[in-house]
Amino acid sequence: MSYILAMDQGTTSSRAIIFDHAAEIKGTAQREFRQIYPQPGWVEHDPLELYSSQLEVAHEALERAGLTAADLAAIGIANQRETTLVWERQNGEPIHNAIVWQDRRTADTCRKLQADGLEPLFRERTGLLLDPYFSGTKLAWILDHVPDARKRAETGELLFGTVDSWLLWKLTGGTCHFTDPSNASRTLLFNLATGDWDPELLRILNIPAAILPRLARTSEVYGETAPGLFSRPVPIASLAGDQQAALFGQGCLVPGMSKNTYGTGCFMLMHTGQSPTVSDNRLLTTVAWQISDRIEYALEGSVFVSGAVIQWLRDGLGIIRSSDEVEALAASVADNGGVYLVPAFAGLGAPHWDPFARGAIIGISRGTTAAHLARAALESIAFQTTELVRAMESDTGIPLPELRVDGGATVNNLLLQIQADLLGVPVVRTRISDTTALGAAFLAGLAVDFWRDRNDLPTTRLRERIFVPTLMPERRAMMLRNWERALQRATKWEEP
Ligand code: G3P
Repeated sequence: MSYILAMDQGTTSSRAIIFDHAAEIKGTAQREFRQIYPQPGWVEHDPLELYSSQLEVAHEALERAGLTAADLAAIGIANQRETTLVWERQNGEPIHNAIVWQDRRTADTCRKLQADGLEPLFRERTGLLLDPYFSGTKLAWILDHVPDARKRAETGELLFGTVDSWLLWKLTGGTCHFTDPSNASRTLLFNLATGDWDPELLRILNIPAAILPRLARTSEVYGETAPGLFSRPVPIASLAGDQQAALFGQGCLVPGMSKNTYGTGCFMLMHTGQSPTVSDNRLLTTVAWQISDRIEYALEGSVFVSGAVIQWLRDGLGIIRSSDEVEALAASVADNGGVYLVPAFAGLGAPHWDPFARGAIIGISRGTTAAHLARAALESIAFQTTELVRAMESDTGIPLPELRVDGGATVNNLLLQIQADLLGVPVVRTRISDTTALGAAFLAGLAVDFWRDRNDLPTTRLRERIFVPTLMPERRAMMLRNWERALQRATKWEEP
């Protein structure tokens, strides 16, 4: 039993990765599944497809590694967060498709709750904002729209879960209905101070407590896989939201340590210690994980558009043919030539939260070329991340020692050099880009003594390259001032 199987159930694909004791990858498999868009702004997944794709890739990864379940010490689960499911306790049948975190159908409900003056209460109790992103209003929507659902929830016939709970329920043959605090803290129903579901918030959202999963730890053995799923039962030993799992996989285990994942957008998390930090900058307060009785917390901020700005250079402007051309184009000029690009294609996220911001390009001169635009686009990703870091530093009073990075766009060396230059601290790229799966594996491995304790985790060996800042401080300050000016021109446009 020398391996851990990590399941990473993400928004667009299910992945499985097998790690050995040195955190070397022994086998991996990935499968995409259907994205269902019933109406503009609505996004759903088929719950059974989430489960079957996840089980299939687990078997495929084992096969590729030449292993069987008998070689596994445990399974760890990391998952797309906030996505909301309800199913029958009796037979596991979903009563509705999963409503995905990106789904905006409850925007009006959130606006109404805000108009009723309830945002400060939710913010204080849960660390979140009243936004359709989170599970609570999605769950209320299902209970409102599926006939008899609320009544049947009250009698305990229906069960709610985020994707972690759903997979655990299915994998254990319907014997375990648990979630962990990293996932629970994304529901708008979890009280950060008590570490439990909040009865008052449940009442406001009209959600019967009987439907909720039991709160378990992020790292513990919840149960075993049901007979017949694998060649022998395997303990399931971690449940973690994917961004928190990545924070763990990056080895950000003490206050101030932070990771940023550069995908279509960015998810940035800073470990903040053993008590929740309240943000003055509209960042989210969230549980990082619970190991034994100890809950650790994080601050989180997201940038809506990061990799997506490179796609826009390709598909919107046509100045590159593929995303990997952007680095060479941007590197063909020494600097941005005075051009700043604010990619507020979908408003701006933290710390601005301005839905009326619009994209802007400013500083163009007769000498501006496609290369300057490409450079400004890369810089825009780094500027937005820098803003999140500064907000986190101001909320916590802890200066960032270094930034650990992962995600698709981190193959771009120039982006990471610019990031280090703007932050003024080293940027560290890991050798294993699947830090989410690695975090799930670490958390599961700790629960079954595969690794003794945190010091036993092979995190330090995972550094692949460190980008050291080289920009003169005066130049950095000037660039940040100009970014600020560009931002002011992009924010608070009037709607037509
Ligand atoms: O909060 C949403 C996040 O968990 C989704 O992550 O990697 O599936 O896009 P990902």
